[in-house]
Amino acid sequence: MSVDKFIIKGGKPLAGEIEVRGSKNAATKLMIASLLTDEPCVIENVPLSQDTDITSELCGKIGSNVELDRDLHAIKIHTPKVLHPVVPELSRKNRIPVLAIGPLLHRTGIAEVPVLGGCPIGHRPINFHVEALSKMGVEVERRPQSYFAKTSEIHGAEIDLPFPSVGATENIILFAVLARGKTLIRNAAVEPEIFNLVEMLRGMGAEILWRSDERIIEIEGVSRLRGVSIETIPDRNEAVSFAVAALATGGEVFVRGAREDHLKSFIAKAVDAGGSVFVQDGGIKFKAGKRYGPVKIETSPHPGFMTDWQQPFCVLLTKADGESIIHETVYEDRFGYVKDLTRMGARIEVSDKCWGDMKCRFAGVSAMHSISINGPSRLHGTDITMIDIRAGMAHIIAALSAEGESVITGIEHIDRGYEKIEERLRKLGAEIRRV
Ligand code: EPU
Repeated sequence: MSVDKFIIKGGKPLAGEIEVRGSKNAATKLMIASLLTDEPCVIENVPLSQDTDITSELCGKIGSNVELDRDLHAIKIHTPKVLHPVVPELSRKNRIPVLAIGPLLHRTGIAEVPVLGGCPIGHRPINFHVEALSKMGVEVERRPQSYFAKTSEIHGAEIDLPFPSVGATENIILFAVLARGKTLIRNAAVEPEIFNLVEMLRGMGAEILWRSDERIIEIEGVSRLRGVSIETIPDRNEAVSFAVAALATGGEVFVRGAREDHLKSFIAKAVDAGGSVFVQDGGIKFKAGKRYGPVKIETSPHPGFMTDWQQPFCVLLTKADGESIIHETVYEDRFGYVKDLTRMGARIEVSDKCWGDMKCRFAGVSAMHSISINGPSRLHGTDITMIDIRAGMAHIIAALSAEGESVITGIEHIDRGYEKIEERLRKLGAEIRRV
């Protein structure tokens, strides 16, 4: 594990152009989809992040030939045969291996994958995955360090998800494409990353009907899938991170590759707060406002305001004149970063109440899932510690927009999801170094 630190000298407006990489939360799933065929698949625009490396390790362990071209950001995965469907351990943990259950079962009839890791942002159970798979003929057994799955008869099913879970929707799709008969997912997650997966699977010969407005996905199982070449969509979370970094430091940045259709709910709030947004050829320009006003944000599944965006946005709201609210309805424990912002001079109160209008699963349970931010505050640099990827980005933006120097530890979190973040930010004028 990295013991590196970032030293950031804040107070400089970011300016210039930065290009977003491919989405890690899409690319890693595309890599898993390649395991459904014995033909080669090429995935382009893959980010060089640790989550990509962990997924490559998983593919390598089961017997795939994995060739990553780091210059081209392209990965070729060829799995003529699954040699080892039992992978109880990997060198590091993330949330991807559980998605390999379907492909491994189709290829060999059994699967064993390590228990999940990922960011500490709530309980993050996988009961929706397990219940859906069991409806489709799979038995999943929880072992001390792994999930072991077997099946005797794979078939489609009608599945009503209790919540539009990204991972559960992906898991069901990855299993249903080769299952006998039809699968219907109601209350499905319809994130752009999932559509990227659907596009890849369609290219491989899968039959999938995508009705995102109704949150319905219908899959007709086919008997075989072929190889394909697919491009990973740009990372929406990176785009938002760079956009907020520009707005919060008083700068102006063109984010190449940012897509308006993926960022509508973010753009609306950025404009409400007082930022300027210019959709241009090949990307979006974000320009800081002279002053910011308070806004109310409620996170929710796509097309809502994404849970991964509230952390950077919170930093911007410390600069807004008045009281802003963030009501987090996706994860119950995603405000751990707030205490560091407070130490930097922000005035933020955390509550277990629903400070919003949206129906929320955390009403009445003691989950600290709402905050109010009273601004404007002048942030000052200090020693802070990242606790997860997106909170880590909030720390970086806070330090970039603060007066003085900050020392950030825990930066292994950011390396999981952002490729060479400090080098790229330096090109925008940021004073950030890794020591
Ligand atoms: N949930 C359950 N049971 C389940 C599955 C989910 O209760 O079986 C709950 C979760 O506990 C959570 C909510 O449903 O409260 C949503 O979870 P979801 O399954 O949608 O999340 P995920 O698939 O585990 C992905 C991303 C997250 C992103 C969320 C929401 C990946 C690898 N991770 O997680 O990204 O925040 O969707 O959009 O795709 C990140 O990149 O930093 C990150 C955390």
